[in-house]
Amino acid sequence: MGCPSNWLEPIVRVQTLSDTGSPTIPNQYIKPLSEQPSFSIQSDSLKIPIIDLYELINGDTTTQKAIMDQISIACREWGFFQLVNHGIGHELVDEALEVWRGFFHQSMEVKQDYANTPITYEGYGSRLGFQKGAILDWSDYFFLHYLPSTLKNHNKWPSQPPLLRGVTEEYLQEIVRLGKILLKVFSLNLGLQEDHLRGAFGGDDIGACLRVCFYPKCPQPDLTLGLSSHSDPGGMTFLLSDEHVSGLQVRKADEWITVKPVRHAIIVNIGDQIQVLTNGIYKSVEHRVVVNPHKERLSLAYFFNPKSDVLIKPATELVTSTKPTLYEPMTFDEYRRFIRTKGPQGKSQVESLKSPR
Ligand code: OGA
Ligand code: NI
Repeated sequence: MGCPSNWLEPIVRVQTLSDTGSPTIPNQYIKPLSEQPSFSIQSDSLKIPIIDLYELINGDTTTQKAIMDQISIACREWGFFQLVNHGIGHELVDEALEVWRGFFHQSMEVKQDYANTPITYEGYGSRLGFQKGAILDWSDYFFLHYLPSTLKNHNKWPSQPPLLRGVTEEYLQEIVRLGKILLKVFSLNLGLQEDHLRGAFGGDDIGACLRVCFYPKCPQPDLTLGLSSHSDPGGMTFLLSDEHVSGLQVRKADEWITVKPVRHAIIVNIGDQIQVLTNGIYKSVEHRVVVNPHKERLSLAYFFNPKSDVLIKPATELVTSTKPTLYEPMTFDEYRRFIRTKGPQGKSQVESLKSPR
C-alpha cells in the first residue's frame, strides 16, 4: 500500500483521553491478551550493563581494555546498556527533558499546529503505522529530523517553550559526538578498521532524528502498552528517560526486564541495521514500554541511522564459511517503510531479511 497523504482515521490524542479522568480506556487501546503486560513474566532483578565512558577515554590501557570488553559483551548479549559519565553536562540533560515536558503541557491548540501526517511523520503525532482499525499505543510523540542537515528545519520544531530549539540543538550535537565514539568502539571490538561502521553508515552523511515520547497516566495499565514490542529499525538509539518513572522493558529470553534509569544516564541500544552489518553478532533486541496509573513519563529517543540510500549488508570480514551471510542487502529507506506502514511488530522485519537457504 502506498503512503496516504493523511491519517485514515481521526487522530485522538492520548493526553486528551487521559485528561478526561475516565476509569476505562477505549477498546482500540486494549492489546490482545498475549501482549498485555500482566500476561508475561516481568523481572526487576536482572539489570542491563552500566558502562562508564569516562574510564574508556581517560583510564589507563588496562582499564580501557576492560571497558571495551564490557561494551562488547553488552552488544553481543544484551543489545542494551546504560552509558554513564558520557560527558554531556547534567544541566543540559535535565533541560532537554524539561523543555519537552513544557511542550506537552501546553494547550492542545498550540500543539495541534504541529500535527503530523504519515508522509514524513515530522511533528506532533499519536500513532505509528496508518492501517485502519489497528490497535493503538498509549502515547503521543513529537518527531523531528536532525541530520542530514538538509532535512533539519528549526521552524518545524516547537517555538515554545522559548528554550526548546536551542536546548534540543545543543543536546543533539552532543549525542552525535557520542554516536561517533561508539561506532569506532564497535568497529574495533569487531576486529574491523576503526572507521568501518562509520563508512558503512554513509560517512559524513548519516541520518539522525529525535522522537520525544510522552506517556500519559493510564487508568488500566495492565491492558495496554505505551509502545508495543519492537526492535529499532535504525543503526542505534540513545534514550534519555525520566529517571523517576520506569516503563521501558527489554526482552531477555522469555522475560521482560524493567530498566531502572540511572540519573542522567543515556540508554544505548543496537538497532536492526547494526544487527545486519555485523551479520547478527550484535543483537537488536525487542523492547516495549509499559504505562503507569499515577505518573506520566517522558523520554527522548535519538535514532542514529545510516544514510538513507546506501545498501546495508553484513561486513565481508564477518562472513565466513562457517558463518555465511545471514541477511539480504537493503537500503535503510526501503527498510523503514515497513514500520511506517504497519507500526511496531516485534522483530518480524529483520527476521524477514534472512537469506533463503
Ligand atoms: C522508541 C523506544 C522507549 C521509551 O522510541 O523506539 O523504544 O522508553 N522508546 O520511550
Ligand atoms: Ni525503540
